[in-house]
Amino acid sequence: MKVNFTETVLRDANQSLIATRMPFSDFKPVLEKLDKAGYYSLECWGGATFDSCLRYLNEDPWERLRNIRKACPNTKLQMLLRGQNLLGYKHYPDDVVRAFIRKSVENGIDIIRIFDALNDVRNIEVAVDETLKCGAHASGTICYTISPIHNLESYVKLAKEIEALGVQSICIKDMAGIMSPKEGYDLVKALKANVKVPIVVHTHSTTGLGFMTLLKCVEAGADVIDSAISCFSGGTSQPATETLVYTLKQYGYDVDVDENVCKEINDFFKPIRAKALESGLLNPVVMGTQTDALIYQIPGGMLSNLVAQLTAQNKLDKLDEVLLETPRVREDLGYPPLVTPMSQMVGVQATANVLAGERYKNISKEVKSYIKGEYGKAPGKVSEELQKLVLGEEKPFTGRFADTLAPGMEEAKAYLGSKATCEEDVLSYIAFPTQAEAFFEKREADRKNTFTYTIKRID
Ligand code: CO
Repeated sequence: MKVNFTETVLRDANQSLIATRMPFSDFKPVLEKLDKAGYYSLECWGGATFDSCLRYLNEDPWERLRNIRKACPNTKLQMLLRGQNLLGYKHYPDDVVRAFIRKSVENGIDIIRIFDALNDVRNIEVAVDETLKCGAHASGTICYTISPIHNLESYVKLAKEIEALGVQSICIKDMAGIMSPKEGYDLVKALKANVKVPIVVHTHSTTGLGFMTLLKCVEAGADVIDSAISCFSGGTSQPATETLVYTLKQYGYDVDVDENVCKEINDFFKPIRAKALESGLLNPVVMGTQTDALIYQIPGGMLSNLVAQLTAQNKLDKLDEVLLETPRVREDLGYPPLVTPMSQMVGVQATANVLAGERYKNISKEVKSYIKGEYGKAPGKVSEELQKLVLGEEKPFTGRFADTLAPGMEEAKAYLGSKATCEEDVLSYIAFPTQAEAFFEKREADRKNTFTYTIKRID
């Protein structure tokens, strides 16, 4: 049986270990090798890469994509997209979503992994539709979570709904690394028995389950697995590519990835890793195994956010209370998967509830819009009490939120005028307005060979 590999070093590993700070110039020399390794796809764009290019690296994300495409003509290029939210956290109008996808495909993307934080299929359907219209591969995604209302039956039902959109594969996205080998095996088996499209498994090594889970998922029939080249693997990143290739080949699976090329790729990244460790960009803590996430069933990243929040307020002694309150808030919100932005929403609200000494004395703006139905449909039932507190006698919005939004492309084009040199610029601006405008300004200054500085008022 064939097992395909998606290499994540340029996107998820980069994002999970070093906050997506790897500039194009760092990995440019290895692209030719990545193209020859035998990967099914190279996850290299979307997620936080776009924001990071504009905000920190002074790179045009579209140009980065075109350059990767040029250097990797033989491997499918893959991106991660948050459905109607594209690469951010708010809903965009349909014309923006369609234009973004069209341009992504035009600039070189072959596979778009499309997910919604609430697993609300209405929030991915336009993105899937446009991906298919552009002739690219739409990979519909299930955000994996554990709760009393999530089970094999609910996941199979969701997978069937996603398959009905016409996707070419379905990805199980375990962003927290909490899917156990048994759960992974059972879920892949159930999906293989009920849907026809290939199944992709994405997990993280955070809790240490990763390798075992991927092996069991492959045994259950998973077609594609995500992994990261070893020196950018482990911890909050993916399990190591070479280790999985070695193991699966021994078991007789048909694997295209060439271990000799992997060795060269890994050797290339070693000094980059060393540099990141030295500068502190790579913190050894994120490379370790954090089993607390299994006890609290919350992602490791969320746990460290809670600790940071409480430390900043000098209230770290309240951590145990907050950890008890977190699952209660999640239950009140109808058990959303703890992926951004839901993880932040739940964590911040739980902290507020504990610190105020009274539950929901203060409710965040985000929780309010969630309860109003502006993020989509909650997976389970939202607490009636909380709903009343936010909405009074009003009913929550039950439609598809993007239907309430006016088109956005023309307005942004008109606003930018000559600052935007192409439609890609307009999309960068819509996705990250402040960062994009600052980037355009710098680019223009570079072009004119002048420089800019910020005036610090002293009056
Ligand atoms: Co991930």
